[in-house]
Amino acid sequence: MLKKKILITGGSGFLGWHLARHFRRKYEVSATYHSNPLTIDGVKTIRMNITSGKEVVERISKLKPDVVVHAAANTNVDGCKENKEGAYAANVTGTENVLKAAADIGAFLIYTSTDLVFGEDGSMYTEEDAPYPMNYYGWTKLEAEKKVAEGGSSITLRVVLMYGADTGIKGSFLRWMKKGLESGQEVKLYTDQFRSPLYVDDAAAAIEAVIQGKARKPLYHIGGPERIDRYSFGRIYAGVFGFDPRLLIPVTMDEVASRARRPRDCSLSIERAREDLGFNPRAVREALISMKESILSR
Ligand SMILES: NC(=O)c1ccc[n+]([C@@H]2O[C@H](COP(=O)([O-])OP(=O)(O)OC[C@H]3O[C@@H](n4cnc5c(N)ncnc54)[C@H](OP(=O)(O)O)[C@@H]3O)[C@@H](O)[C@H]2O)c1
Repeated sequence: MLKKKILITGGSGFLGWHLARHFRRKYEVSATYHSNPLTIDGVKTIRMNITSGKEVVERISKLKPDVVVHAAANTNVDGCKENKEGAYAANVTGTENVLKAAADIGAFLIYTSTDLVFGEDGSMYTEEDAPYPMNYYGWTKLEAEKKVAEGGSSITLRVVLMYGADTGIKGSFLRWMKKGLESGQEVKLYTDQFRSPLYVDDAAAAIEAVIQGKARKPLYHIGGPERIDRYSFGRIYAGVFGFDPRLLIPVTMDEVASRARRPRDCSLSIERAREDLGFNPRAVREALISMKESILSR
């Protein structure tokens, strides 16, 4: 039987890189990069600037994927605030370009959005809750969600803060924490910022369930099973990886200056994905143990 053709935009990014490695044996996988050239065994890699509609149509019409997983974006929350034009071009126009090119060849589009479409006054948001982004990054991702909802054969997956093995090109927030802890420096972590962090391997499992046609709705929340603050997360991480937990300093969001505003709580409810996609993500401790084992077995 012919393998399904999957195109991943943002293959040089944290999520895209992990997806390409997860999917490469089962599917015929292509992955794009923009400024960070990419090589992954068993994956065709190509340069594509999503802000150029012409280039996107050319590349996608040539590859003719069955499914496009759109994970390319400007994800720098502070950077988006400081360069709104660039952020709009990558996150809104870029998504429109990919959506149109996918529709032209009848490919199904999986758009990855963010938990940062939600703001301050809530917790464990469901797909029925009205989004209200607190920063420009979140706003651009929500604008793109609207385009995706209007466009052809597509779905939006709002993924949350992810963690997992460093790709060598991009790391998750664990890269920053590890660097500090390894060099014996204090690491300040919020006690009052709540997310539902997700192990990137579990994000891949959810996206694969969508590729396999299990989705029934146009929008799903894809997050971890726990609502947890950053400091508690750091304590679990230090415990699993054998770092000195005394280096972790609990702070509140008000104590640390940040350029763009960020919500105190954008934890997501994942009941819809559990029900339809059979999504069953690991809790933080379990996921970190599994991550440590896979790093040791390399
Ligand atoms: N990581 C998280 O915790 C998290 C949380 C919530 C939602 N998400 C969503 O998940 C998706 C993937 O995020 P990520 O963390 O993997 O992002 P990332 O590590 O920052 O990677 C971004 C990717 O987008 C590409 N890109 C940026 N501008 C581009 C352009 N103009 N043309 C083509 N490609 C461009 C980058 O290519 P180069 O590096 O080669 O330039 C890179 O491959 C995004 O939609 C993001 O909003 C991520």
